Amino acid sequence: MKHNGHGSRIAGFYRLPRRERLARLAERFGLTTDELTELEAASPLPFEVADHMVENAVSVLGLPLGIGLNFLINGRDHIVPMVVEEPSVVAAASFAARIVRDAGGFAAEADRSLMIGQIQLVDVRACDDAAQRVQLARARLLAAANAVHPNMQRRGGGATDIEVRSLPDTACGPMLVVHLLVDVGDAMGANAVNTMAEAIAPLLEEVTGARARMRILSNLADQRLARASAHIPFDLLAEDRTAGRELAQRLMEAWAFADADPYRATTHNKGIMNGIDALALATGNDWRSIEAGAHAFAARSGRYRPLSQWRVDGDALLGAIELPLAVGTVGGNLQLNPRVRLSLKLLGVGSARELAAVMAAVGLGQNFAAMRALVTDGIQRGHMALHARGVAVAAGAPEALIGRVIERLIACGEIKISKAREIIASVQMAEGLLAGS
Ligand code: MEV
Repeated sequence: MKHNGHGSRIAGFYRLPRRERLARLAERFGLTTDELTELEAASPLPFEVADHMVENAVSVLGLPLGIGLNFLINGRDHIVPMVVEEPSVVAAASFAARIVRDAGGFAAEADRSLMIGQIQLVDVRACDDAAQRVQLARARLLAAANAVHPNMQRRGGGATDIEVRSLPDTACGPMLVVHLLVDVGDAMGANAVNTMAEAIAPLLEEVTGARARMRILSNLADQRLARASAHIPFDLLAEDRTAGRELAQRLMEAWAFADADPYRATTHNKGIMNGIDALALATGNDWRSIEAGAHAFAARSGRYRPLSQWRVDGDALLGAIELPLAVGTVGGNLQLNPRVRLSLKLLGVGSARELAAVMAAVGLGQNFAAMRALVTDGIQRGHMALHARGVAVAAGAPEALIGRVIERLIACGEIKISKAREIIASVQMAEGLLAGS
């Protein structure tokens, strides 16, 4: 099945000039002339809009918006808009997605959009008794929470449950923490949850006789997890089954290293977040909250561990990932940025849960590509090729010479603008001589 009747494979996309790339996207995704103009316009965000978004605004910073290709997720094609400054990330994601696609694609899913609002209660006399009284007032508390966001409940979401946790031994004595669980639907939900947490705090004080202090969501959204997996037969992993088996063994060793060592697990997870953050940025989501939640989740056993798991399953490599992904497709500052709206259109997801599922798949693919590069050629080869491209362009290489300048820069190992200028001059001179002979 194809997304919008179109695939996510666009052969030779990277070789096309920008206009052609946009034309392909316009054709496949039915972009209007206005939308194309928006993608081409110089400022990614009108300053007047930026000025309303933050305080003391003086300008707007741009970042590249690239397209991750080849993603097949739950049988649907997705092209993945990615905002990232690091070379290789978009290419690596597309490369991994191509391999997984041939193996049938990613399977992915996400939980209901349940967020946790925390209310801290201090000066609690008898914790057990207070906890019980909170539970007895459950229906009143939920009603008070839903009263401030009635539309959310009408749409099938809203505050759904109350949990009470006792912290008997903090540096400031015993505390009670009330968790308000809220299904925020297609929003990230921070504002709604914070408003609800503030709304029920007076009632909690009344019920427990304690003092309510902090009222804020938890970014450890561990009731809002997303998962993805990929099953890649050895013969699709490399040129043949034997090479695939050898590569799978190396990947297993790479994963075991990360699983045993937090120093490596941190970098392993950084590779995952390269893809997740890039999609989060493109879709206007709060990547700091995603990062905070992901890393806390990675440490939930008491030791910081990889967010993904890789193992051999018969004649195939099996990869899986699970992490909290509190992301939205509506609300917040999302709608203010026209390119965010366009990114969501290109991605073609219908809900926040679908976005989270796609994001998990992108993270897993990104992880696979990084590990594969690290256990084979090493990461620098790809990085250097892209770095050399940037240097060749900065040195003023004409379009027709870029390929040759990159090759020579890499071959001589001196990837500098001065060297690129020398190469450009020598190639141009050789061409001049040839033309004259
Ligand atoms: C670089 O941005 C990400 C990697 O370091 C990830 C990894 O080591 O797995 C390549």
